[in-house]
Amino acid sequence: MARGAFVGTTLAGMILLENLVPEVGYLYYLFVGTAHRRTGVGSALLDDALHRFQRDGVTVVYAVAEEGNEASIGLFESRGFRTVERRELGWKDGGLGAWGLRSRMRIIGGEVLLGRRLPTSPAPRAARPKPGTPGVSARSRPVARG
Ligand SMILES: CC(C)(COP(=O)(O)OP(=O)(O)OC[C@H]1O[C@@H](n2cnc3c(N)ncnc32)[C@H](O)[C@@H]1OP(=O)(O)O)[C@@H](O)C(=O)NCCC(=O)NCCS
Repeated sequence: MARGAFVGTTLAGMILLENLVPEVGYLYYLFVGTAHRRTGVGSALLDDALHRFQRDGVTVVYAVAEEGNEASIGLFESRGFRTVERRELGWKDGGLGAWGLRSRMRIIGGEVLLGRRLPTSPAPRAARPKPGTPGVSARSRPVARG
């Protein structure tokens, strides 16, 4: 599924999300147009995605980022994500390991896997954008998958 953030009528950014299994969410693309960066759009998209996952009973969320991409990693870390180590205990056993799910992820060389657990219900309200951020609303539409 794709979710877009609109500033007025302009598409300012988008995030792609899916469930790898019912309890595991995956964020595999997040992009904010250069003119809208550092204004809270990426945060709003990420908060919206996390809220949807939590509402739907997801307990673990993974995301990919390019190694050294400080903006992306900084954004995910600000929302409680941390780098997942390769040999980590599996998510079913209380860790964040994702080895069994990797074949379903789109990880390429030079990317790191980040993960976090979500609290179980009740789902919180989606976080508001920073004060001063132009109105951001997320709309969704299905994405064709090959
Ligand atoms: C990563 C990206 C989505 C961030 O979007 P954004 O709308 O600028 O992010 P926000 O304004 O919501 O920033 C939220 C937090 O992320 C971190 N962050 C964002 N940009 C950053 C930068 N250039 N350097 C370091 N940290 C940064 C900060 O912690 C920031 O909080 P702060 O502004 O209070 O310091 C955007 O830079 C982007 O689209 N980059 C190109 C595509 C990409 O790399 N996507 C991710 C991999 S799929």
